[in-house]
Amino acid sequence: MRLVLLGPPGSGKGTQAIFIEEYFKIPKISTGDMLRLAIKNNEPLGLTAKEVMDSGKLLPDEIIIQLINNRLIQLDCSNGYLLDGFPRNIAQANSLKSSGFELDYVIEIVVPEKDIVERISGRRVHPMSGRSYHVIFNPPIIDGKDNITGDLLIQRNDDREEIVRNRLKIYIQQTRPLIDYYLDLTNNKKIPNLKYRRISGSGSVEEVRNRLFSAIN
Ligand code: AP5
Repeated sequence: MRLVLLGPPGSGKGTQAIFIEEYFKIPKISTGDMLRLAIKNNEPLGLTAKEVMDSGKLLPDEIIIQLINNRLIQLDCSNGYLLDGFPRNIAQANSLKSSGFELDYVIEIVVPEKDIVERISGRRVHPMSGRSYHVIFNPPIIDGKDNITGDLLIQRNDDREEIVRNRLKIYIQQTRPLIDYYLDLTNNKKIPNLKYRRISGSGSVEEVRNRLFSAIN
């Protein structure tokens, strides 16, 4: 199973990705998580990434494409993968295609813009794993702590309201065109086995999960 989760910031990609990862036993590959890890480990990539991410902009395509190409050739991707946060624009999607990394599903998660800021402002994350919680909608078992490790949860730097608005603007300009890009590939059968599914990301985490699994049956 090879999938891409597509959707605006805060639409629940990371939250839902965990369920797919567990069910299909495939790695969840989140470029955002990889970059945050590079920042945490003081890697050279982290230095570039921090400034760009804190502003809500996208990192240069060459950096991200190299990161993803190196990741997708790892052994644990041989049975499939789930891409969360990649591709982010047409150039990245073209690179994925021309590098021969195939896809079975592109799943678009739709959430009204008015819900996004509310979701992101209450988000708390476990930086090591990328597990994501919400203080009201998806709280951890113990307040402020990760359910699996018990580590402290943090608030992301780029989750401030003005940065979220910038991320949304960039999503509309650069990432949303991927909807037509993938619809064209699937409707015109340019990639015969590729399927496009659009699901609502509204409702509880469990409702969205059920919708997602029905979409990929
Ligand atoms: P990235 O980490 O990919 O962020 P994003 O795409 O903006 O997505 P988010 O992580 O904000 O949202 P999500 O959809 O995963 O939502 P979540 O499940 O957490 O990227 C960050 C930055 O890295 C970018 O801005 C860029 O700088 C850089 N970057 C990354 N990839 C790049 C690339 N390919 N190219 C260039 N630059 C790149 O849910 C959000 C909240 O809602 C949580 O609190 C959650 O608990 C809650 N929630 C989830 N589901 C529900 C529900 N059903 N009801 C209520 N609340 C819910």
